[in-house]
Amino acid sequence: MQVVADISPIREQVVKWRRDGKKVAFVPTMGHLHEGHLSLVRKARELADHVVVSIFVNPMQFDKADDLVNYPRTLEEDTALLNNEGVELIFTPTPDIMYPQGLEQHTSVDVPVLSSILEGHSRPGHFRGVSTVVTKLFNIVQPDVACFGEKDFQQLALIKKMTDDLALPIEIIGLPTVREMDGLAMSSRNSRLTVDERQRAPVLAKTLRWISSQLRGGRSDFNDLVLDAHDQLRAAGLEPDEIFIRDAATLQMPTDTTSQLVILAAAFLGQVRLIDNLIVDMA
Ligand code: PAJ
Repeated sequence: MQVVADISPIREQVVKWRRDGKKVAFVPTMGHLHEGHLSLVRKARELADHVVVSIFVNPMQFDKADDLVNYPRTLEEDTALLNNEGVELIFTPTPDIMYPQGLEQHTSVDVPVLSSILEGHSRPGHFRGVSTVVTKLFNIVQPDVACFGEKDFQQLALIKKMTDDLALPIEIIGLPTVREMDGLAMSSRNSRLTVDERQRAPVLAKTLRWISSQLRGGRSDFNDLVLDAHDQLRAAGLEPDEIFIRDAATLQMPTDTTSQLVILAAAFLGQVRLIDNLIVDMA
């Protein structure tokens, strides 16, 4: 396994693989890896001959300075996990390598609409940071296929649109959210929860399942439904940030032709902002 911070050795290795007619899969991450990330790595191995994983806590996508500072960094454990999974190449650039002239001077990629609605509205600049860094990572690694999690539902939609709009020759694969036994979606930020918060955290997923059962039961008063869900979260000690019920294909308000809904939720538990989502088949 090679762990490389510079751009040129990554390019050279991938060029060699491609020259040999091998297929390359890529999994971008911000590290502090868990089973959710590893599920993407395993799929990547299935889909290609070689897997590249990047670990980069991307400053451009953090809208709050303290979140960036407190983001868990566990490079040694992460590389051991990836070694176990048979990953051959890990790209671990520093901010100086990715943004040599600073964030303000860097060319950015902006995906209209999808970057400013929902999660993008709560976290201004976040998705511009994501689409910019993923474009740069794609250009460095030049994979045939890249894997992303449905855990970050809007991010996945944004990457698919960006890849399509810019005609990037990369297949984007979305994979289901991996959860703890009690339903909590795995997330690098979960390790920042106190013992008490960790016990309360599954209420977010439980509330999503409750909304889903109400929708499938025919309830269509979305505004009141969301307010009831807020009450359930507050009763369990979570502070709801946003809950949206949208068309899963467009992320816009549902219409008569909507066949799948997605419930997108974000809630604070102490200092940590948890996000989760659930798809609801209406057929
Ligand atoms: P990060 O939060 O580290 O997530 C890396 C990838 O793992 C993303 O595609 C995310 O959706 C996926 N993932 C996270 N938790 C998951 C879970 N419980 N089940 C399945 N997949 C899960 O998302 C990012 O990093 C960054 O925004 C990045 C794309 C790397 C750009 O900086």
